[in-house]
Amino acid sequence: MKTDKILIIGANGQIGSVLTETLREHYGTDSVIASDIREKEEPTGPFELINVLDKDRLNEVVDQYGITQIYHLAAILSAKGELNPLGTWDINMNGLFNILELAREKSIDKVFYPSSIAVFGPTTPPNQTPQDTVLTPTTVYGMSKVAGEYWTNYYYLKYGVDVRSVRYPGIIGYQSMPGGGTTDYAVDIFHEALDNSAYTSFLDKDTALPMIYMEDAIRATIELMHADEARVKVRTSYNLAAMSFTPEQIAQEIQKHIPDFKMSYAPDYRQAIADSWPNSIDDQVARQDWGWKEQFGLGEMVQDMLKNLSKKLVV
Ligand code: SER
Repeated sequence: MKTDKILIIGANGQIGSVLTETLREHYGTDSVIASDIREKEEPTGPFELINVLDKDRLNEVVDQYGITQIYHLAAILSAKGELNPLGTWDINMNGLFNILELAREKSIDKVFYPSSIAVFGPTTPPNQTPQDTVLTPTTVYGMSKVAGEYWTNYYYLKYGVDVRSVRYPGIIGYQSMPGGGTTDYAVDIFHEALDNSAYTSFLDKDTALPMIYMEDAIRATIELMHADEARVKVRTSYNLAAMSFTPEQIAQEIQKHIPDFKMSYAPDYRQAIADSWPNSIDDQVARQDWGWKEQFGLGEMVQDMLKNLSKKLVV
């Protein structure tokens, strides 16, 4: 049997750093090659410097290790993307084209490509947003993910490249920091609550957004990648949901553990992005097709975050 050799692009990022460790537990350290545009300070296994826009470098690393699967996580997210629209489009789209072409040319077994709730827009039904619905993104990041979903579907239909994808909600984890997203407040708030007992949210108190705990997000990713090919019927990207809450609701949940925690609100340009996204997501199709089910709701997530971050503070 051919052994799996996995390449993670964007392995230093919020998802990539946790996914690298989890995949190493499943497949063995040397079977998971981490890569990023920047060096990793303390690599826990094989690491390669890769700029996803450099196709020759991608080819070289794929050949060197005999890569059979790629997780392509490198992208500029919603908030940061608005500061450099054309540069964001370049990285998000041409990065994806390099991966799709590489997968086609080298017959890579499977590719994972994350999409996002950013594919939705102001005219999308905002509550329990269905799988097949209006996609009218207003950010370059969201536009690149809509286009990316259609391109991955195209490579599957036309060339049989087995690309799989979920539309991640905002991801909350203690292991890593997000960068450049509109949902980042829901991670920052924990660090500030523990350090200063206070946080100023850049989103207004009633802004409900779909969110997921890191544990669940990683498990969803791996379960989708392990599902029998016949069960993966959506080849654009699966809606994925776990919980939805507002800044005020997460603050109240944190106050159950840190009673003197003070929340204030100073919405900035990210408010308009959040307002264009759904409040909650209907992910029935993922549940039916490959058995998705979350384990963490708001209460469990807050408890686990505080427990793990306090441990980090002590050491
Ligand atoms: N968390 C991402 C962002 O806020 C959404 O995919 O940009």
